[in-house]
Amino acid sequence: MQNRVADIASFLDGVGLKHLRNTNQFWAYLDSRYARNQVGDLERAYLKLERGDEAAFYQEIFQSLKVSIDFASLRHDLYRSYLEWFVSSITQTPEVVVDAGCGNGLLTCFYAQHFPKARVIGFDISAAGIECAKELAGQLGVKNIEFVVSDASDLTLPIEKGSVNLITTVASLGPPPGAPVTESSAYDLISKKPRLNQILQIGNLAPYLEPENGQLISFDKVSTLAQQATWANIIQSCGLGIDLSSSAWLSYQNIESDTIALPALVAGPHVKPSSNHELLAFFATRNIDLSQWTLDFGQEGLAELVFTFVNPKTYIRGARANYTDGSGIYWYELWQAGPFNIIFEHTDQGFRTLRVASSTQKAELLRSVDDWIEQTSSYATVTELQSPEVRFDGNEK
Ligand SMILES: C[S@@+](CC[C@H](N)C(=O)[O-])C[C@H]1O[C@@H](n2cnc3c(N)ncnc32)[C@H](O)[C@@H]1O
Repeated sequence: MQNRVADIASFLDGVGLKHLRNTNQFWAYLDSRYARNQVGDLERAYLKLERGDEAAFYQEIFQSLKVSIDFASLRHDLYRSYLEWFVSSITQTPEVVVDAGCGNGLLTCFYAQHFPKARVIGFDISAAGIECAKELAGQLGVKNIEFVVSDASDLTLPIEKGSVNLITTVASLGPPPGAPVTESSAYDLISKKPRLNQILQIGNLAPYLEPENGQLISFDKVSTLAQQATWANIIQSCGLGIDLSSSAWLSYQNIESDTIALPALVAGPHVKPSSNHELLAFFATRNIDLSQWTLDFGQEGLAELVFTFVNPKTYIRGARANYTDGSGIYWYELWQAGPFNIIFEHTDQGFRTLRVASSTQKAELLRSVDDWIEQTSSYATVTELQSPEVRFDGNEK
């Protein structure tokens, strides 16, 4: 792993990315490399990006490889984080790799060097971006690489459908930054109709994947729960199941040293689609601070009220403890409520606590039931229960 991390760092340095600590440093760096009027143009292009006009921005920065690499320095830590995850999780050597929306080809060149026997194809809607990519591959002496101009919404690739082992989309096809999202419940959001052009793009890419082992990796800028849910829904509506055990949350620092976490989703035609609850549980682990969702001492009434009215919910496992000193009875229960798990503890003396966790943590929570049984057995008679003994007034099963 150490070597891989060092390899990634030296690749990024070798390509010419700089370690810049904030936007002031970035613009000072550009001032040192370009004429004043050119920096002014770049500043105006950057403002366009912030207003959501990506195409105008890329038209400006793909004017030369040098400019596009300088702007890529803004994303230095994003590349580091993604590539470290990529090399440790893609352990099978692909024969054909497609990099969708490859821009100046930085990642495409990395893939080609990392898999020297693979055929690596990068495509981008921007002809200027593809010119930069060809120049970069030439500079790095990468041979197993091809670049084509194509729009993912109207895709033609120089390869047979069903023959690509790996397609990557990094900051390319997901909802653009600033895409409007409606605040609503997560359930409404996940069932909402996704935007047509993105279905079209993933729908055009999916048939190129090899049906038995082809994988799509999306590390796109889907930064809100709403965008993540919609994006996951788009991927799955195109016949690709999202494999949550291979997917991951990646963290990196942006140019202002804020820590950003984005999902890297792994999907394939052979993967059973994840349910909405599973997807929401995966996204909820980072979007919602579940440590806040604990009702403890002094909040017994609220804990009981919430537990009673969170429905539907299903009992998973639990146990009763009869204290050997005769001081009372204690129940420890694990429940499932949609994408969440609930640990509910209550006694015959009116004590209640309630903890909510993402159901991605289910294995841990099941272990917490075992641990509780083991610890409590030293001072109580503990009996595992197949169903809850005390019913609250909801409609739990
Ligand atoms: C933020 S850049 C990312 C480039 C590259 N993936 C990287 O991470 O360095 C987004 C790229 O997606 C490209 N792009 C946007 N929409 C596209 C589409 N419909 N088809 C192909 N490329 C597209 C843009 O031209 C741009 O080069």
